[in-house]
Amino acid sequence: MTGPDYDHFCRLIRQASGLVVTPEKAYLVSSRLGPVARVEGLPGVADLLAVLRAGAPDALVQRCVDAMATHESYFFRDATPFDQLVSDVLPSLIAARQSQRTLRVWCAACSSGQEPYSVAMVLQELGARIAGWKIEILATDMSEPILMKARAGIYNDFEVKRGLSPERQTRWFKPEAGGWKVSPTLQQMVQFRQHNLLQGTAGLGVFDVIFCRNVLIYFDVENKRQILEQVSRAMANDGSLFLGSAETVLGVTSAVESTPGVRGLYRKTETHLLRSA
Ligand SMILES: C[S@@+](CC[C@H](N)C(=O)[O-])C[C@H]1O[C@@H](n2cnc3c(N)ncnc32)[C@H](O)[C@@H]1O
Repeated sequence: MTGPDYDHFCRLIRQASGLVVTPEKAYLVSSRLGPVARVEGLPGVADLLAVLRAGAPDALVQRCVDAMATHESYFFRDATPFDQLVSDVLPSLIAARQSQRTLRVWCAACSSGQEPYSVAMVLQELGARIAGWKIEILATDMSEPILMKARAGIYNDFEVKRGLSPERQTRWFKPEAGGWKVSPTLQQMVQFRQHNLLQGTAGLGVFDVIFCRNVLIYFDVENKRQILEQVSRAMANDGSLFLGSAETVLGVTSAVESTPGVRGLYRKTETHLLRSA
């Protein structure tokens, strides 16, 4: 699949979401947009691309963007970031925030919610150490359909077993609606909101911990740089940023730097500390 309609589609997707679609990804475009074309009553994906180029309504463009995004996620994905959260990041923050007794966590690009619910489990499991603290977990994604799944908090057998120990499954999930529903305690801790990373972080406030994992891999260097610099500005000076295991800031930005010996954990660099904090 090539030609002006395809090229226009690649530009459209990149502008709307940052996702880079190249000519080599034609197979992906075909398979992901096939269902959208069918719902639109169009004979095929080529016809959908032509409609988009002729000027489609925003809602249809958004459905195509959602279809092109990869929503893969699972509980305690990659394990190490959550181990690091428990063994190092949270103990330091708890010591440093004894007077404010607040913690703010942002899961950017949270997909179907497994990441913020994993964070909520970890925080709950701290028990008395943060009893009475004000804990906020903001979980955002650009895709409203995937956020609806996240808010519902219902996972099928495969999803609930992926990354969760039997103890955690029993403690935090109950059978419901043919799946497993996350406990109200965890649900109340997480606020889900639609947010496009290309739109910056204004209005979100400052966070102690940010997860921005397995999304930057889909962007070009310029968008990665802009997003990482904005994310860095939204971090407390002693805050922590977790990126995906396949993601790096090398050659992208100096706003954050990796923590020696800990894969995926980043801190603000000296030159990017918030002056007012
Ligand atoms: C592969 S999932 C990652 C989920 C989770 N962070 C994890 O690591 O398991 C990538 C998510 O990024 C979201 N996404 C892609 N582009 C985005 C953008 N520009 N702004 C916000 N979210 C975006 C997609 O909708 C998708 O749900």
